[in-house]
Amino acid sequence: MTTINPVTDLTLEGDVAVLTLNSPPVNALSAPVRDGIFNGIRQAIDNPAVKAVVLICDGRTFIAGADITEFNKAATGASLFDAQAMIENASKPVVAAIHGTALGGGLEVALTCHYRVAVPSAKCGLPEVNLGLLPGAGGTQRLPRIVGAERALEMVTAGTHVGAKTCKEIGLVDELVEEGKLREGAIAFAKKIVAEGRPLKRVRDTDDKVAPARGKPEIFAEFRKAHARKFRGFLAPEYNIQCIEAAVNLPFDEGIKVEQKLFRELITGVQSAAQRHVFFAERQVWKLPDVPADTPLIDVKKVGIIGAGTMGGGIAMNFLNAGFPVTIVETKQEALDRGIATIRKNYENTAKKGRLTLDDVEKRMGLLKGSLALEDLADSDLVIEAIFENMAVKKDVFGKLDKIVKQGAILATNTSALDINEIATAVSRPEAVIGLHFFSPANVMRLLEVVRADKTSKSVIATSMAIAKKIGKIAALVGVCPGFVGNRILAQRQREAQKLILEGAMPWDVDRVLYDFGLPMGPFAMSDLAGLDLGWSKETSKGETLRDRLCELDRRGQKTGAGFYDYDANRNASPSPVVEKLILDFAAEKGINRRTISDQEILERCIYPMINEGAKILEEGKAIRASDIDIIWINGYGFPVYRGGPMFYGDTIGLDKVLAKIKEFQSQMGDDFKPSALLEKLVAEGKGFKDL
Ligand code: 3HC
Repeated sequence: MTTINPVTDLTLEGDVAVLTLNSPPVNALSAPVRDGIFNGIRQAIDNPAVKAVVLICDGRTFIAGADITEFNKAATGASLFDAQAMIENASKPVVAAIHGTALGGGLEVALTCHYRVAVPSAKCGLPEVNLGLLPGAGGTQRLPRIVGAERALEMVTAGTHVGAKTCKEIGLVDELVEEGKLREGAIAFAKKIVAEGRPLKRVRDTDDKVAPARGKPEIFAEFRKAHARKFRGFLAPEYNIQCIEAAVNLPFDEGIKVEQKLFRELITGVQSAAQRHVFFAERQVWKLPDVPADTPLIDVKKVGIIGAGTMGGGIAMNFLNAGFPVTIVETKQEALDRGIATIRKNYENTAKKGRLTLDDVEKRMGLLKGSLALEDLADSDLVIEAIFENMAVKKDVFGKLDKIVKQGAILATNTSALDINEIATAVSRPEAVIGLHFFSPANVMRLLEVVRADKTSKSVIATSMAIAKKIGKIAALVGVCPGFVGNRILAQRQREAQKLILEGAMPWDVDRVLYDFGLPMGPFAMSDLAGLDLGWSKETSKGETLRDRLCELDRRGQKTGAGFYDYDANRNASPSPVVEKLILDFAAEKGINRRTISDQEILERCIYPMINEGAKILEEGKAIRASDIDIIWINGYGFPVYRGGPMFYGDTIGLDKVLAKIKEFQSQMGDDFKPSALLEKLVAEGKGFKDL
C-alpha cells in the first residue's frame, strides 16, 4: 500500500490499482481529497503493472460533493478540474465504485471516470440547486450526455438523489454489485473490462443522448412553464436549465464555459449564501448546548393524544406514519368518530394519489385506537394534549394525567399560546412537562417548536428532539414566552400589516409586496384562508375592528366566498370594492389621514420589526441561535429559503441599516419599534447575527 496523503491510499490488487479516499464525515472534495485523487491517479497510471484503476471511498459514503465549508475561500492544491482531467484523460480505465451517496462534485468526479459501479443501496444526484448553485464541475454538461436532456433537467432542478437501480436503468451506473462487496465487485468489473478490451468511455465525447433535444426549444420552455410555481424567486433552477440548454446546443468545451460563468454568478450571490446558511442551520438546530448528546432518552413506544380535532388528528398521523401505536382520547363519541374518520379520509386521499397503498392505510389505521377515557393513556410513554386553548381546562387535564399516566412518561402540550410553566404547576412532576408545538396542518408542516419550560428535564428535552426526528420533523428548541418564537415574531408583522391598511395601503398592496418578497401568501390572503371568525362571535362583536366589521357582513374568509378579498367559485381572489370602502370609512372614523405608502415601506414595516423581535428573543435566551429562528420561519411560515430566514436576511441588509430604520419608525410611531439591546450592541460592534 502506498500512502498518497493523509486521506488517500493506493493499493494494488493484481493489475488493478485501488485508490481509496478516507476523509470523514462524507469524503467532501477538500484540498487533500482533490490532491489525493490527482496524485493517486497519476501514480497508478504511471505504474506499468497497472491495467485499470478503481476509485473508492472508505466510511459511510462515496464523495458527497465539494466541501461546502471551503466555498468563497482561496483554493489550494489541485483544482477539481485538474483532478477530473487526470481521471478522464487517463490512458487506462478508471472505475468509480459508489456506495452511500455520490452527490454534486462527487458524482461529477464519477462522471469523469470511464465506468461506474454501485451497490444497490447507493444513490446519485446533483443537489447543488438546493444550495442555490449548479453543478460547477461539468455535471450539467456530462449528465445530459448520459441520461438525456429531459431527465437531466429534472435531476438538476430538483436535486433528487436517484437510487442505484434507477441509475443503472438510465445508464448512469454501468453495473450493480452485491451489497457489502463493493471493493471486490469493482475490482472484478475492472478486470472484466480490461479482459474484454472495452474502450475508455469519455462521457464528454458522446452526443447521442443530447442530439434528440437539439433544435427543440419547446422542451425547455415547457419545462420552465410546468415548474414556474416551484421555482418562483429562485435563481438556481433557471441557471441550471440554461446549462442543460448549453449542453444540448453547444460543443462540450463551450458548454463548460457557460456552466462556469453561471456557477460563478451563483456562488458569489446572496441566494446561494442564504441557502448554504440554511443547509448548516438545519444541522445545527439539533445541537443543544446544555443538553449533552449522551443524555439518556426515554424509550417511547406508545403515544397518547388528547383531542381528535384538526390538530390532534394531524399530530396522530405523524406518529402512525412512523409506526407508533397511538391512542387518541376525546370527550364525546361523536367527536372521536369524526376525528378518526378524518384521519382515515386523509390517508385514503393520499392512497388515491398513489402515494400510499391501501395496505399502508390499513396498517396505519390498525395502530390507532380511540377512547373516551383518559385512563387508557396510563401506559403511554408520551402524551400530547391538543385541546382548545383554555388554561383552566388544560390544567384540569394535566392534573388528571398526573394521577393516571405512568411515571417517567412525557406530558406534552400542543399549546401555541399558553404559559407552559403555568400548565406544569398542575402536576407533581413538572420535569415531565414540555411543549410540542406542531404547526397546522400538523401532518404536513415540517416544523416542530419544542418548548422547554423552567423545570423540564434534559432527558425530556432530548427525547422530544429525538422523537421529532423520528417522525420526520425539523425541531427547534425554544423557551416559554408569549407566542414562543414563531408566532411571537409573526405578531409583529401582523400588527404592522393591520396598521398599514389604515394608514394608506390596501390589503392587496401588502399581500403583493410580501408575496413578491417570496412568502407563499400575504397576511390578508392568509387570514381569509384561515377564516376571519377564528375567536370571533356574532353575539359579542362590537364592530370595533376591521375584522369585526368584515365578519358582521358575513365576510368571514374564503369559506364564505368573501373576506378581505372577493372570491369566485374557484376560490380565485380579487380586490374587493366593499372592503376598500370599509377601510376608508374605518380610517376616517379613527381620524387617520391616509397617505401614499411605498412598497419599500410596506416591506420594511413588516419585516424589520420581525428581525428586531428575533433579536429580543435571542437577548432573552428564548432561542438558542439566530439560525434556529431562521429554521422556524422557513419551515413554519414559508419564509423564502433563498433569503435564508429573517435573521440571515437582516445580516444581508446590514444590521446598521435595519436599526436605523427601526429607530426612524420608533420616532414616528412609538415603542412598537423599540430597538432590541442586542441589535444595538451588534451594530455598535460592527457585527451581524452570524457573529454570535
Ligand atoms: N461539505 C462539507 N461538509 C459537509 C458536506 C459537504 N459537501 N456534506 C455534509 N457535510 C457535513 C455536514 O455539515 C455534517 O456536519 P456536522 O456533523 O458537523 O453537522 C456532516 O457532514 C454529516 O452530514 P449530515 O448530517 O447531513 O449526514 P447525513 O448522513 O444525514 O447526510 C449527505 C449525508 C446526504 C451527504 C448530506 O450531508 C448532504 O446532502 N450533503 C450535501 C451534499 C451536497 O449538497 N453536495 C453538493 C455540494 S456543492 C458541489 O458539489 C459543487 C460542485 O458542483 C462543484
